This record gives sequence, C-alpha cells and structure tokens, in this order.
Amino acid sequence: MDNEMEMTGSGGDAAESLIPAISVEHLTKRFGDLTAVDDLTLKVSSGRLFGFLGPNGAGKSTTIGCLTGLIDPNAGSIRLLGETFTSDSIELKRRIGVMPEGLALFDHLFAHEFLTFNGRMYGLDEQTLRQRVEELLTVLGLANAGNKRLSEFSTGMRKKVAFAAAIIHRPEILFLDEPFESIDPAGVAMLKDWLRRFVAGGRTVFMTTHVLETVERLCDDVAIIKAGKIAWLGDVSKLASGESLESDGSSFNTLESLFLHLVGERYEMLEWL
Ligand SMILES: Nc1ncnc2c1ncn2[C@@H]1O[C@H](COP(=O)(O)OP(=O)(O)OP(=O)(O)O)[C@@H](O)[C@H]1O
Ligand SMILES: [Mg+2]
Repeated sequence: MDNEMEMTGSGGDAAESLIPAISVEHLTKRFGDLTAVDDLTLKVSSGRLFGFLGPNGAGKSTTIGCLTGLIDPNAGSIRLLGETFTSDSIELKRRIGVMPEGLALFDHLFAHEFLTFNGRMYGLDEQTLRQRVEELLTVLGLANAGNKRLSEFSTGMRKKVAFAAAIIHRPEILFLDEPFESIDPAGVAMLKDWLRRFVAGGRTVFMTTHVLETVERLCDDVAIIKAGKIAWLGDVSKLASGESLESDGSSFNTLESLFLHLVGERYEMLEWL
C-alpha cells in the first residue's frame, strides 16, 4: 500500500490539526549495507497516541532515534510541531521528551540527582523542579530508594526513572521506546492513565511496544513496519467499537490477526524440543 497517509487529529482546534505534531518524509537510515529505515513517510496529528509496531529489527528504535536527534538519518526530512527538526535543533529538543530503548542513565547518580539534572537541562525553574522530582519519585514508589544509586536499581525501577525523566518538563511530544517493558502491572496501569491525560490535553505520544493488547486499549493510530517500510497505517481505535481493520481486501477483528497477516513468519516446530 501507499505508505503516505495523513491521520486526522481529534485534539486541538481545526487550525492546530492542520499542522501535524510529527511529519516525516522519505526518512532513510542505513547502517553499512543494511537499510534500517527505508523511505518512511508518515504524519501524526496533535492529541493522538500513536503506536509504532513491527517485528524485532524492523527499524522502530532507529526511527525514534532519528525523530529525537539521537541518530542522524541519511535522507529524508522531519518536522516536529511544524518546524524542521535535525539533531542540532536545540530549542525544538526542549519541547519533546524521549525514553530511548537503551536507558542512558548515569549509574553513579541517585534518582533525584538524575531527574534534577534532566529538569535543569530542559530549563525548569528550581522550585518547579524540586516539586516535580519529589512528586514523581513518590508517585512512582521510588521515594524509599533514595539511598540507592541508579546502578543498584532493579530493571523496572530504572525504567520508571527513565519515564520520569522523559516527562518532567511536560513536553509537547513524548517518544517512548517500549515504555512498559519490565514495569509491574500497577505501574503500567498508572503510566497508561498518565498517557491518556497527556494526550487529552492536545499533546502527542509516539510509542513502540510489542504488547498488542496495550495498543488496542491505548492507542488511537498505529503503524506496523517491516524491514524499515510501513506495512499498515490506520486508526486502531475502531476495534474498540467493534469495527474491523482492513488490509489487502481482508478484514481483521484483532490487531494480532492483522499483525500476523502482515509480518508473521512461518516457523518450524523444534522436533527435538
Ligand atoms: N548502531 C547500529 N549499527 C548497525 N546496525 C544497526 C544499528 N542499530 C540498529 N541496527 C540494525 O538496524 C535494524 C533495525 O534495528 P532497530 O533497533 O531499529 O529495530 P527495532 O524495530 O527497534 O527492533 P526491536 O523490536 O528488537 O527493538 C536491525 O537490523 C539492527 O540490527
Ligand atoms: Mg527497538
């Protein structure tokens, strides 16, 4: 299918929805001979929770890297919040938040030091910063871990700190790479509520996950990518109202059935197992 489609937003007024929060055209990233992101074009409107799916190695994290300035693409253009974005876009970077795949935490710091460092980098005033650091650590259940350095945190605790660091400055777009992985069910329920509130205010979330049920319940729009190209892009919230998702003339009543149709591989049973 044509991988150039525009999603229409539900958040914001008419003028706002004309400018997509994220607009990517012909984005390409190569690592040597491998084209990890292959001529990718997509738009995400403000106020939407966008799920970015695909099998392992499909190019999701590489795309997020390009969209947040962690990776320089080889070709293509990126516009965030209506402005051209490159890895040098300092001002624009302050308006986005990112939780990358490999958690780049400073292991020798305490959680409150790490969050304070991040908040200062984003220009928060000291009083707001102190309040938010304290509130985030309390709500995330990390207030009692004040005597531990990040290197001593469990995987889920590290993930929560990375989430807190991504939202502390109340960004306009939040990029999350596998945000719920390793987080306990109560924590996941809370973070999902936070994200719903975040987009209800007209802000935008772009997230990857392998948990399709999460996408069905949480996301408005979804792109499924395979080998760096878009295999499907559409409105997944239809499923909640009993509508089916269409592709290649077939209709699917779960995201899993669509996903398997598009990117599922045939596999052999391990006879020796
Ligand atoms: N720094 C790098 N150097 C070389 N190849 C890379 C690098 N980063 C990613 N790749 C390759 O690019 C492709 C896409 O990787 P990417 O991490 O974007 O996949 P992904 O969709 O995020 O997968 P996963 O679901 O496993 O997280 C893979 O083939 C990967 O091996
Ligand atoms: Mg990844």
